[in-house]
Amino acid sequence: MTEIAGRTAFITGGANGIGLGIARSLAGAGARLALVDLDADALSRVKEELIAVTEVFTAVLDVRDRAAYARIADEAEAQVGPVSILVNNAGVSGGALAAKLTYELWDWGIGINLGGVINGIQTFLPRISERKAGGHIVNTASGAGLVPPVREGSTLYTTAKYAVVGMSEALGVDLEPQGIGVTVLCPGAVATDIIDRAIASRAEISVPMTDEQIAKTEAMKTYLSNGMAPDLVGNLVRDAIRSNQTYIHTDLAVLSRIEARTKALLAAMPHGL
Ligand SMILES: NC(=O)c1ccc[n+]([C@@H]2O[C@H](COP(=O)([O-])OP(=O)(O)OC[C@H]3O[C@@H](n4cnc5c(N)ncnc54)[C@H](O)[C@@H]3O)[C@@H](O)[C@H]2O)c1
Repeated sequence: MTEIAGRTAFITGGANGIGLGIARSLAGAGARLALVDLDADALSRVKEELIAVTEVFTAVLDVRDRAAYARIADEAEAQVGPVSILVNNAGVSGGALAAKLTYELWDWGIGINLGGVINGIQTFLPRISERKAGGHIVNTASGAGLVPPVREGSTLYTTAKYAVVGMSEALGVDLEPQGIGVTVLCPGAVATDIIDRAIASRAEISVPMTDEQIAKTEAMKTYLSNGMAPDLVGNLVRDAIRSNQTYIHTDLAVLSRIEARTKALLAAMPHGL
């Protein structure tokens, strides 16, 4: 049970989509906010909106940049107080067929989706732990972190998201005695512009998406646009922090695949179940 009111929450990818939904919900619950993102314009819009509700610090930060992360953590804590709720949420979608993956693509996808979470933990966990005032860590994984994918081209994303789930479960074991809760958010479809933003992010490396790959994302965009509203996901995160809930699902999309995977794992036990 973590009381949110009066705490400071640091949210990565907090300028858009799910991160913004979480920011709104935690602000409504009385938290002060430190929001970081690559998207400077969206950060200023969000600051303008949420400053009416709570104290807000914003900064442009690439979650892969460890030195900048430490510097911005100091600045954030100086302005909005010691962080005791950490939300590692920034992420990108996309990848390539397994045989088409390159080291550059692996470094991009793992660097943001897993490395960014590791950097958040390394930056803030020692601070939260030393203060001995409890707290909560939320890591955004995905339904893709729990079950084998149905779509081809998912190896990169799935690798990072399974790791975020495993990391969160292991952190939960270590941190429970210190009163620091850990939640892993495993959304199904959420209505955000993640695909367009990820296509833009891919432009930083020499393996941008081909026109053919971009055309293939149209069906996925339609699927996501019918997903849950990010603000509702934010409310689920708020409630999970308060009740110290380990997992958050946003819909039943992975239900049958969780059952099938669990059944297959049990059937593979030495004496078969
Ligand atoms: N939208 C969905 O359906 C869905 C489903 C499952 C999981 N997720 C996960 O939820 C998280 C949030 O996704 P979203 O849908 O809100 O996407 P989004 O694109 O709307 O928001 C992600 C934010 O992260 C920021 N970002 C990207 N790379 C960054 C970096 N290197 N450093 C700092 N900020 C960076 C972007 O600028 C953006 O503001 C991601 O981890 C994603 O994998 C989303």
